[in-house]
Amino acid sequence: MQNGQIDVKAEANDFAAEIGGVDLAAGFSEETFRAIRGAITRHKVLVFRDQHLDDDAHLAFAERFGPLEGHINTATRHDRLPKIQVFQNVDQAGEPTGVHPERGTLVWHTDKSYVARPSLFTILRSPSVAKTGGETLFADMARAYGALAGPAVQRLDGLRAVHDWKRSREKSDERPATAAEIAAAPPVDHPLVRTHPDTGARTLYMGNHASHILDMDRAEGEALLADLERHATQDKFIYRHRWRDNDVLLWDNRCTMHCVMPYDAAKERRIVRRAVVQGDPPG
Ligand code: OGA
Ligand code: MN
Repeated sequence: MQNGQIDVKAEANDFAAEIGGVDLAAGFSEETFRAIRGAITRHKVLVFRDQHLDDDAHLAFAERFGPLEGHINTATRHDRLPKIQVFQNVDQAGEPTGVHPERGTLVWHTDKSYVARPSLFTILRSPSVAKTGGETLFADMARAYGALAGPAVQRLDGLRAVHDWKRSREKSDERPATAAEIAAAPPVDHPLVRTHPDTGARTLYMGNHASHILDMDRAEGEALLADLERHATQDKFIYRHRWRDNDVLLWDNRCTMHCVMPYDAAKERRIVRRAVVQGDPPG
């Protein structure tokens, strides 16, 4: 389908679309930007293939969507450009280290939900991808919410989930949060069901950073979150992104979750770099 100045090839259920006809490094018109903005609203995840961006061009593209934010984990921060984060399993010599850079990406999550103003869009590019495994899965949280039956939906009304960076790292078996990180990201709570400001769609908002439900017995809240995750990550709600070198992905964190599939970090090189657009408090 031709839409304005871009080609849009949608995946099943309109969840995710491959966008052609645009060279992100060359820059593009306001009309093209509006077409991309419309496509992300509709499809939630956009894939641009064969894009040859350097870090500066990556930032320039990301900044068209709003102000960018850095990350509290300084270990993965770019040396020169603090708004770029580098996730890679290679050492200085380019050899695989055997260590996936951020285990929190291997479990279902939505970016930075542990802060008061969680990420709006994430723009991730892949200078180098694993040949086997390492796909990124996305779950359509609006469709997942829409598929819940009556009593299950009513039960969620008014509930708030507590999101906690420290607990999230414990759950994903990452190095413990530092005192500085804990101070920078104390636990926050967000509605468990949020309303997407651009579409009015109600969507589940949870993932690994969500630790429990506010004012609910801890174990009961954890069980509810686990149930919802099982529901939302059924195949029928998922887009599986099979990376190629030089892909750029743009996704909406307000209505999706994502996770990386396992790969052999001792053999395969997997290098991705990302920029994140600031969001608003979920409502
Ligand atoms: C992220 C993330 C997924 C990937 O950048 O937020 O979860 O495919 N990355 O590396
Ligand atoms: Mn992520």
